[in-house]
Amino acid sequence: MREEAEPTGRFIGTAINDGLLSNSTYRGIAATEFSSVTAENAMKWDAVEPQRGQFNWAGGDRLVQFAQQNDQLVYGHTLVWHSQMPQWLQNGSFSNTELRTIMTDHVTTQAGRYRGQVQRWDVVNEAFNEDGTFRQSKFYQQLGESYIADAFRAARAADPNAKLFINDYNTEVRNAKSDGLFRLVQRLKSQGVPIDGVGFQSHLIVGNVNGPAIQQNLQRFADLGLEVAITELDIRMRTPSDSTKLQQQARDYRAVADACLAVSACSGITVWGISDRDSWVPGTFPGEGDACPWDSDYRPKPAYEALKAAFADAGGGPGDGPDDPGDEPDEPDEPDDPNACTAVFTVSNRWATGSVVSVTVRTTQALNGWRAEFELPAGVTVANGWNGSFSQSGNRVTVTNAAYNGTVQAGGTVSFGFQTGGGSAQDGTAVSLGGQRCAAG
Ligand code: XIL
Repeated sequence: MREEAEPTGRFIGTAINDGLLSNSTYRGIAATEFSSVTAENAMKWDAVEPQRGQFNWAGGDRLVQFAQQNDQLVYGHTLVWHSQMPQWLQNGSFSNTELRTIMTDHVTTQAGRYRGQVQRWDVVNEAFNEDGTFRQSKFYQQLGESYIADAFRAARAADPNAKLFINDYNTEVRNAKSDGLFRLVQRLKSQGVPIDGVGFQSHLIVGNVNGPAIQQNLQRFADLGLEVAITELDIRMRTPSDSTKLQQQARDYRAVADACLAVSACSGITVWGISDRDSWVPGTFPGEGDACPWDSDYRPKPAYEALKAAFADAGGGPGDGPDDPGDEPDEPDEPDDPNACTAVFTVSNRWATGSVVSVTVRTTQALNGWRAEFELPAGVTVANGWNGSFSQSGNRVTVTNAAYNGTVQAGGTVSFGFQTGGGSAQDGTAVSLGGQRCAAG
């Protein structure tokens, strides 16, 4: 799926169960099918700070290392949440001032620890009741609504380049809960609180997925100037499954993917687990399950094919021009966020068996470490490069900053160059920066 998602400029992610990374089937799928990973549990407060002020980074570090090995984004989940809190916090009694400090210290320490390595953070998770009022979490009860702004400010200070999200469930369509969230986000924006995105968990039910309603709701949040993302997608059914349910599930997965792909500010889709064998659903919703894209034997289900097809149809790959009957007429092959970066990819010299290329990427955002990616024609390889460190897998080249050019100001440029062997590169090759496809500049 990763390959199909790439040209759309969106990420396809999964939740990673830390305990399963030693299973080679699981690990293989996680590494090859996804371009983003979220820790299913390893970055939650109870895992990270089991005793006050004592941090355990083992699981989070394993995730980050896995992502770096596989050239994946990391979606951090989650800094402040009423659930999966450590006992000392859950049961302890603290003054309001003390609780606020505990919270901001936790945010500062964790976001600081992964500064530059986590591209997105769920700063606050599940702050709302179903009726759109605030959930009476320990934080809300003692600190009121202001805990949310404080958490975002602490996260921004700790990692200025991470995109900061608020995340929730049952907010995918317009309803009382998403209206409450919408009003909060409007207030945060108007107060200048550093929030970048809204995550829609999307724990959905087969036969109960309204794609256009999801699209419309994502769009109203995007219209506030925010990124949106599908962060925990699974679509459950009453078990056992049968082929009718599996086909409906595939249509439902497709509907969610199409909704995201139709909203240019929707940066990607994370599925909450790979296989039905490992999903949290049966343990939480008795009698329900089979909610994932792979079955209990790690075989891809119709839902997997549907997700992949959604990306492929939106991606504008070779042959996907206006004459391609599979092409949607209203989907120009445009970068996801035309404002994020622009790239100039110039072949300055070419000969029968090689070429010299220079690449300049302009970014609208300040960067603290960068990763650029592009593809070369089949058989063409990078022979040597400068102003970055180069790696190639198949025809896909990844360039990360050199020690001396990782820091770039907002509006600044990154330049690197290389020589190819086995043939020439192509002028104007598309480049992405940090997983975002850049506009041709
Ligand atoms: C779930 C995990 O999948 C389970 O392994 C864990 O026992 C409980 O939490 N919303 C969230 C996720 O934000 O963190 C939850 O993950 C699922 C619901």
